[in-house]
Amino acid sequence: MADNIQAPVITLDGPGGAGKGTLTQLLANHLNWRLLDSGALYRLTALGALKQGVSLDSVPDLVRVASQLDVEFRPSSVGEPPRVFLAGEDVTAELRTEETGRHASSIATIPEVRAALLQRQRDFRQPPGLIADGRDMGTVVFPDAPCKIFLTASVEERARRRFNQLKQQGQDVKLSALLEELKARDEQDMNRATAPLKPADDAVVVDTTGHSIEEVLKIILGVWAEKSST
Ligand code: DC
Repeated sequence: MADNIQAPVITLDGPGGAGKGTLTQLLANHLNWRLLDSGALYRLTALGALKQGVSLDSVPDLVRVASQLDVEFRPSSVGEPPRVFLAGEDVTAELRTEETGRHASSIATIPEVRAALLQRQRDFRQPPGLIADGRDMGTVVFPDAPCKIFLTASVEERARRRFNQLKQQGQDVKLSALLEELKARDEQDMNRATAPLKPADDAVVVDTTGHSIEEVLKIILGVWAEKSST
């Protein structure tokens, strides 16, 4: 299919805690588009591997798990993220732990795992449009997206946001540990050889430090209005 008749995509890339997840939800609700939480696919691959007793160092096994992911995203109440089922088991809470994030970041360095998840991510692109949240949405998965946003925020602010989010979910976390965790993950995500975390050349970089979610939503909708009218 020619690119010019494909559904539009707004890509939201950036480090953990920059607000991508919340903004992706809000944008998808506002525009009534589908959303892709690509980080969930890396998290699910890591979780699936561990549940099957597969070593996170075994590339062929990880590729098999990634290719055969039996996932269902079930809509929950309005404004809430969907519940996630892996092989019929509700893994929503397990998926969001820092431990799962760490494992996801580690297997995400493996090019074969990334390749195994590529088409599954592209299949989310359907009319009327897609909001795609991740690290390489604008650079690798949807390089022809008409609107690319790269969200950043200081690591201290991202750690505070993550802390509040996890506390709300009832998780027992320490701010200082989260700060170190985010720094380590930034390092790993930005310095891997394949699809490192970086803004696409044609991305608009939005620093969310000190801005409310509503302010950032307005900025992104403004960028989209401009891009879609040209
Ligand atoms: O966005 P998240 O925290 O759920 O992502 C978890 C990890 O998955 C992240 O540290 C790096 C990896 N990831 C990736 O490499 N590429 C993506 N498009 C999304 C996530």
